[in-house]
Amino acid sequence: RKSFDIAVIPGDGIGKEVMPEGLRVIDAVAERFSLDLAYRHIDWASCDYYDETGSMMPPDWRPQIGECDALYFGAVGWPARVPDHVSLWGSLLKFRRDFDQYINLRPVRLFEGVPCPLANRKPGDIDFFVVRENTEGEYTALGGRMFEGTERELVIQESVFTRTGTDRVLRYAFELAQSRPRKHLTVATKSNGIAVSMPYWDERADLMAQQYPGITVDRQHIDILTARFVLQPTRFDVVVASNLFGDILSDLGPACAGTIGLAPSANLNPDRLFPSLFEPVHGSAPDIYGKGIANPVAMIWSGALMLDFLGRDPTCPDGERYRRAHDAILSAIETVLAKGPRTPDLGGAARTEDLGKAIAELVKTIDVA
Ligand code: NAD
Ligand code: IPM
Ligand code: MN
Repeated sequence: RKSFDIAVIPGDGIGKEVMPEGLRVIDAVAERFSLDLAYRHIDWASCDYYDETGSMMPPDWRPQIGECDALYFGAVGWPARVPDHVSLWGSLLKFRRDFDQYINLRPVRLFEGVPCPLANRKPGDIDFFVVRENTEGEYTALGGRMFEGTERELVIQESVFTRTGTDRVLRYAFELAQSRPRKHLTVATKSNGIAVSMPYWDERADLMAQQYPGITVDRQHIDILTARFVLQPTRFDVVVASNLFGDILSDLGPACAGTIGLAPSANLNPDRLFPSLFEPVHGSAPDIYGKGIANPVAMIWSGALMLDFLGRDPTCPDGERYRRAHDAILSAIETVLAKGPRTPDLGGAARTEDLGKAIAELVKTIDVA
């Protein structure tokens, strides 16, 4: 098989600080497990590029990265210079849609050694996945303003829920729940207040549940669901949600498990027709950019998810090596979180590169099954 081509897109702010640590770790496992990876370094999809050119990406962005096997993405956004909806609809949200990355898979886990803001919680108590719909729902640019500047000013923002879009994310979540020992699925909804889309979401979920009699389905309104993330996190195994609800749950979950600096995500086109995108859940963090204190674990863990996904490509004869590389990175992350060094969000005083180097060193020798 040819090597895997990976577009490396650091973006803005701490995206530029955590990306080198992600690559440091990937390079180390690639060497150990003889992975065949080729990077394509991309200096657009950033607000710097926007300042220079007036757009987030060059006109030929798609031929430049569309044939890659994966996109490894830092973070985009610098709201003081470019309005967020301009920078994000001009980059990340465009990738998710144009590459039909309809699953946004976001693991949430409490690790040993990470201070948990919830009382009396230990590792194992928080261990679930948020499966977020990633191409439609509440995220649209459909709508408009009328009577601007008058008392009658009116703003309409539409949502879109297609049967295909709803069913495919539900299907993925049911299958994921099916593969887990607890076989428990929470369906995030809000069918009391949002009277059209959410009853539809429930209806599709109920219909699919009939095909999975072994799965316990727990339908919860999003408001009480957020309360239970805090009060009863052991209740969750797989949580499936629309685009907006999934966005909110995937910051709240990691915050309950200590810091959003650990949270990775996989924006998947499971059919592999287009590249999938792997990125931290967090953003460009302008408040800490330049200080060298961002936690690189979310970026590094996202890299592990990328290798795992690439290794499952049916055309990859040595997929096992990619899975072992993933496992080595995860074990190294666990070790570093338990023993340090720790960045300030973990209660320490270490720097971004201290964690990156410690994890990169460990993956070279750490035991993997
Ligand atoms: P943010 O995630 O960038 O930051 C929120 C808070 O978490 C900040 O206090 C920040 O310092 C902290 N934080 C985030 N990542 C951290 C890390 N790795 N280590 C330690 N602390 C960390 O969210 P925001 O402030 O709402 O957004 C800033 C910009 O990033 C905006 O332009 C936003 O649109 C963009 N954004 C981009 C993405 C993305 O590219 N995927 C995701 C979220 C936000
Ligand atoms: C995320 C981010 C993005 C989202 C923003 C930056 C558009 O918050 O990946 O969670 O809302 O999806
Ligand atoms: Mn978010």
